[in-house]
Amino acid sequence: MKLFLDSADLDEVREAAGWGVLSGVTTNPSLLAKAGARDFQSVIREICTLVPGGPISAEVVSEDTAGMLREARELAALHPQVVIKIPMTPAGMAAVRALKDEGIRTNVTLVFSTAQGLLAAAAGASFVSPFVGRLDDTGADGMAVVREIVSIYRLYGYPTEVIAASIRHPRHVVEAALAGAHIATIPFKVLRQLFEHPLTRQGIERFLADWRALQAPRGVEV
Ligand code: G3P
Repeated sequence: MKLFLDSADLDEVREAAGWGVLSGVTTNPSLLAKAGARDFQSVIREICTLVPGGPISAEVVSEDTAGMLREARELAALHPQVVIKIPMTPAGMAAVRALKDEGIRTNVTLVFSTAQGLLAAAAGASFVSPFVGRLDDTGADGMAVVREIVSIYRLYGYPTEVIAASIRHPRHVVEAALAGAHIATIPFKVLRQLFEHPLTRQGIERFLADWRALQAPRGVEV
């Protein structure tokens, strides 16, 4: 499973890209607002250069197909890595179909049911983003939707890749991998948490202490 960063914060993207584990980035209007990205087009372009070759999702805000297509073409022209994020609506799926015919990749967002996942694949989406955490918040089993979409895509050979989105904690990432998601898009804090284990920290400290003791002249404390 590939790991994407779910962020529009350039410092976060820069740092996470430096860890060597990142394959792409997803943004949305809320994340761009949180990052204070007024000139969002340069932010998207900069993210593309920070994560070379990785798909970088940028979302449209129009609600009609014509408006979505206009925005999508502008965003796609920013950089070849840009993938257009389109909401799961009838107008959105019409835009996904038209963009596929133009060779522009799409990521269908705000997916909360397996049926919606099926529609995204039928429209020819490159990626589909079921929102696990927001479903969990309602008392539903968000990961079950990921599992079912993955099974259906396998059964029928749909090439659409499943992005487990709205990830809230490290266990979500592991469960997304076990469910067969192609990608998990992860907030910076959770991506950082994935590295942590108390025994790793404790092990490093013990190795360093033993190494320092070996280097020190006998009987001399360092
Ligand atoms: O980028 C889409 C999704 O990951 C949003 O997550 O935390 O706002 O539910 P969240």
